[in-house]
Amino acid sequence: MLDKIDKSKLPRHVAIIMDGNGRWASLQGLLRSAGHSAGVKTLKKILDTAIDVGLEALTVYAFSTENWKRPHAEVDFLMYLFSYYIEHEKQKMHRENVRIRFLGRPEEFSPGIQKQMRDATQLMKNNTGIKFNVAANYGGQDEIIRATQKLAKKVSAGEISAEKITPALFESELDTAGQPPVDLLIRTSGDMRISNFLLWQSAYAELWFTKTTWPEFSPEEFISAIIDFSNRDRKFGGLSEK
Ligand code: IPE
Ligand code: IPE
Ligand code: MG
Repeated sequence: MLDKIDKSKLPRHVAIIMDGNGRWASLQGLLRSAGHSAGVKTLKKILDTAIDVGLEALTVYAFSTENWKRPHAEVDFLMYLFSYYIEHEKQKMHRENVRIRFLGRPEEFSPGIQKQMRDATQLMKNNTGIKFNVAANYGGQDEIIRATQKLAKKVSAGEISAEKITPALFESELDTAGQPPVDLLIRTSGDMRISNFLLWQSAYAELWFTKTTWPEFSPEEFISAIIDFSNRDRKFGGLSEK
């Protein structure tokens, strides 16, 4: 299917809200945790596909600032899975020249997980392949507030004047600093909402929703979303380029 993609119209940055693990599990008569484990398998396949396609950046929503509201046991399981995923995948990602970055607030994770995140980031920091962002304890509003606080501190320290705050300067304080905006935003499992993901970066993203749950989302469907994107007429407020 890869040869059906028009490489000149690839999205530079694809973001995915990996939703529906719980629904998939209950349909199978399994525990929600089994859905999350199945979701990790999908993530590995989708990252491999993104590398094969030649995407510049892929961002996945792994845990939101709102997901702490879930039952303790589920949050604990998600933390365990996150830690397992980093430990078991980091060498393979490194071999594939992946450059990992974590978006969000690491402070609220356990010291052990924070160290794994730092170590994985450090290991891959000089890699030049796909920019793979894992949003973990991430919220778009929280990210915007943190960027605003950093700029406000610079203004009050006299380092910059308030008038110097432009979209480009603001962007340089976001967790995705230096990366292109989101071109294509995919959400699995049927809900049509953003759920506090990449609010700034998705300002002009093309949205793509599917009823397929995340554990069942396939490389083929991912590629069909990319092909769909390449046929969209992006106008950015101007007139059609077609
Ligand atoms: C997405 O699947 C994974 C996370 C939010 C961590 P869900 O767990 O939200 O699955 P549903 O939406 O309940 O089916
Ligand atoms: C969004 O999914 C967060 C992740 C995929 C990590 P949710 O399942 O948490 O979103 P809502 O609660 O349906 O909006
Ligand atoms: Mg959900």
